[in-house]
Parts: sequence; C-alpha cells; structure tokens
Amino acid sequence: MNESVSQLQQILSNRRTVKPDHYTGEKVNDALIRQILEMANWAPTHGYTEPWRFTIFAEDGLARLGDFMARLDQPDQDAEDFNSTRFDRLRNRPLNCSHVIGIGMKRGNNPKVPEVEEICSVAMAVQNMWLMAHTLGLGAYWSTGELAFTDEMRDFFGLSGEDRSLGLFYIGKPASPNPKGRRLSSIHDKVSWIRA
Ligand SMILES: Cc1cc2nc3c(=O)[nH]c(=O)nc-3n(C[C@H](O)[C@H](O)[C@H](O)COP(=O)(O)O)c2cc1C
Repeated sequence: MNESVSQLQQILSNRRTVKPDHYTGEKVNDALIRQILEMANWAPTHGYTEPWRFTIFAEDGLARLGDFMARLDQPDQDAEDFNSTRFDRLRNRPLNCSHVIGIGMKRGNNPKVPEVEEICSVAMAVQNMWLMAHTLGLGAYWSTGELAFTDEMRDFFGLSGEDRSLGLFYIGKPASPNPKGRRLSSIHDKVSWIRA
C-alpha cells in the first residue's frame, strides 16, 4: 500500500481521547501548541468564514480556568448541597494539563451560511488539532458537558452575542501509551448505498 495512505490510516485510527488524569503534568513548549493551532486553520469552511476562535490557557491561566469552571458549576460555596469534592475536581483538572484550548465559534454575518455549518467547521478544526496533537505524541481530549455551551463560558473566552463556546480541548504529555480504541458497531452498520 502507498506509504502515506497507511500512515494516514494509522494516525486516524490510533488517535484517542486522553484525559487530564492520564497526563504527567509536564508542560510542553508553546511552539508545539502553535503547530497544533496552525493545523486548525486548515479546516474547510463554507465561504471562508473561518469561524474558529481559540483561547489558550497556559501557566497561571490553567489555575484561572479551573477556578472559573468550579465557580461557574457551584457559585454558592455556602449552599447546603455544596459539593467540595466536585468543586476541587473541576478546579484542579486543568492543572495537570500542559495547555487547555477554549473552543469558540465566531458567528459570521453571511446569510448563506447557517450556524450549523459554522459549528461543523469548528469541529473539523478541532479534529485537525487532535490529529496533530496525537502525531506530536501529546494526549488530547475535547470536553463538553453542561458548562461548555453556556453564555458565561462564551464570555470567558472573550466572545459575545451569537458566538458560542463549544467546550475545552485539554492537552498534556500522556503518562502511558494510548488506550485501545473501540467502536460499538462497524461502519457497515451505519452506511447505506443507493445505486439505482
Ligand atoms: C464534541 C465532543 C464532545 C465530547 N465531550 C466529552 C465529554 O464531555 N466527556 C467525555 O468523557 N468525553 C467527551 N468526548 C470524548 C468522547 O467520549 C470520545 O471521543 C469517545 O469516547 C471516543 O473515544 P476516542 O476519542 O478515543 O476514539 C467528546 C468528544 C467529542 C467529539
């Protein structure tokens, strides 16, 4: 088989979700993050809208992000049902990462491009980053959950109005080799061919 085909197949199928509790805590050079971001910018869009916007949390920014997430999740630390374990987990999660990238979508004003297309394009940009991070030997993870799509997260990323937050992309040095991937069913169960 053509070598680049087989390399691409390896990269696509071996990329995995690697979460912060499986990182070493080591910080990588910003230059690697810039390489990852460069690949995001090659994602396709309808009408060159290029709607991806990224907010990079590094160094003390990681603690700032954790603090923001924990307080957004549980604003009232004096509440009777305040869960300190949950609060600390959210607050500490970014600290084990090297960098965390806030994923934003900047809504354009081209009436031909519906919001769903902009969201699709941002997802393609994230996939590019994920594949690049994996190829550079880094662990990465797209996290969403309840907080990800809130206006507060959007504002925290410096966006506003019709823009959106689409979650966080955690990056770190993996502590162990990638886990084996799994899919619940084969691609053949998800495809129909129409030939006539
Ligand atoms: C848009 C998107 C959002 C995700 N959000 C979460 C999440 O909030 N929590 C989580 O555990 N995994 C999340 N994941 C990761 C998936 O759980 C993971 O990709 C899936 O289990 C497949 O594993 P793999 O990436 O190793 O192939 C998300 C993935 C995508 C694409």
